[in-house]
Amino acid sequence: MTFGRHLLEEWLLDPAITYLNHPTVGATPRRVLAAQRALQDEIERQPSRFLLRELTGVIVGAWRPERPRMRVAADRVAAFVGASGDDLVFVDNATTGANGVLRSFPFEPGDEILVSDLGYGGITLAATFAARERGATVRTVSIPTPYSSDGIADAFEQAVGPRTRLAIVDHIAAEEAIILPLAEIASRLRRRGVYVLADGAHAPGALPLDVTSFGVDWYVANLHKWAFVPRSSGFLWVAPGRQAGLHPAVISWGLDQGMTTEFDLVGTRDPSPYLAAPAAFAFIDELGGLAAIHAYTHDLSWRGAQMLAKRWETPLDTPRALVGPMASVMLPAPLGSTREDAARLRDDLLFEDMIEVQIHASRGRLHARVSAQVYNDMADYNRLADAVRNRTRSQANC
Ligand SMILES: Cc1ncc(COP(=O)(O)O)c(C=O)c1O
Repeated sequence: MTFGRHLLEEWLLDPAITYLNHPTVGATPRRVLAAQRALQDEIERQPSRFLLRELTGVIVGAWRPERPRMRVAADRVAAFVGASGDDLVFVDNATTGANGVLRSFPFEPGDEILVSDLGYGGITLAATFAARERGATVRTVSIPTPYSSDGIADAFEQAVGPRTRLAIVDHIAAEEAIILPLAEIASRLRRRGVYVLADGAHAPGALPLDVTSFGVDWYVANLHKWAFVPRSSGFLWVAPGRQAGLHPAVISWGLDQGMTTEFDLVGTRDPSPYLAAPAAFAFIDELGGLAAIHAYTHDLSWRGAQMLAKRWETPLDTPRALVGPMASVMLPAPLGSTREDAARLRDDLLFEDMIEVQIHASRGRLHARVSAQVYNDMADYNRLADAVRNRTRSQANC
């Protein structure tokens, strides 16, 4: 399989836009959407039978021997991420899964939740809310730059205090786009008695993944970012010893019927994204499998980031081992340094240059987070390099 722009045909993405922001909300391939639509049609033929009798283990009518459809899909997703289906539940998205964990955890007044300044804002706010409800506090560890695996693990370990009960550790940081040494951090934190909630929102499909290998207590992730599953679809993997007492963020008929039953039915919703996961995995196989996709996308993001840093004359000091299919590159100083500057540049690039890319402000400078998907190639990065160069020149001439 050759990758590059010709594969855009497999998506509904507007070919007029250079799309360097695949993971923010994901982009579902056409054939996976077709499989999802077929499932929706199947549901619509007998909606109440499908949703009430076949979907979950909450019994309506007489007991049935068939495995509930959500469980069959969970088995497939679990196999994709190295787990057992009995330890994995679907959630709408990573945020919902993290909320379930944080709101179930028995924090006492004075306890501490540890987060990092690389953490995703929405999930840090969920931690803030859970802490506030229980009289606990949130401590934010600053990760030192330039990034290194040891520096990151040391920073987490040194931030542990006597009341630290739970830490949220991102697997791939949303803005800085670096891969954190999750297993090393988890091993150091668990040794200090701290439970670990891994936020792997970006990991499935982006990295080789065995969620059981990190030694974490919970691993929450999205399938709609890099794994080609329709949105919204996330999962929560829970270590076998941590399942008792865990509840979803929304309570419904499955309460106290076991973790999987409780999470499988959280009110009436459209289950077609989860059930379409096998179609997404089949598409990955047709593309040549995850190893081939990673070889292309990780190489493209790394080469693309190096080229951008060279053209923009900014430092790129992130080690290659911490870079997957996306990278964060510092932008030239004349483009600004604030959140407002970031929002303006992002809009200008989209509405005037037709380039969709994530821009953020951090450490006194703007940065572009560029993603590499199988439909991207170096020409996309060159377009971004030129657009930013032109804007820098006109800014400098102001
Ligand atoms: C690291 C990280 N965690 C959590 C999320 C939230 O994902 P969602 O909005 O699908 O819950 C994101 C979204 O980009 C993310 O990057």
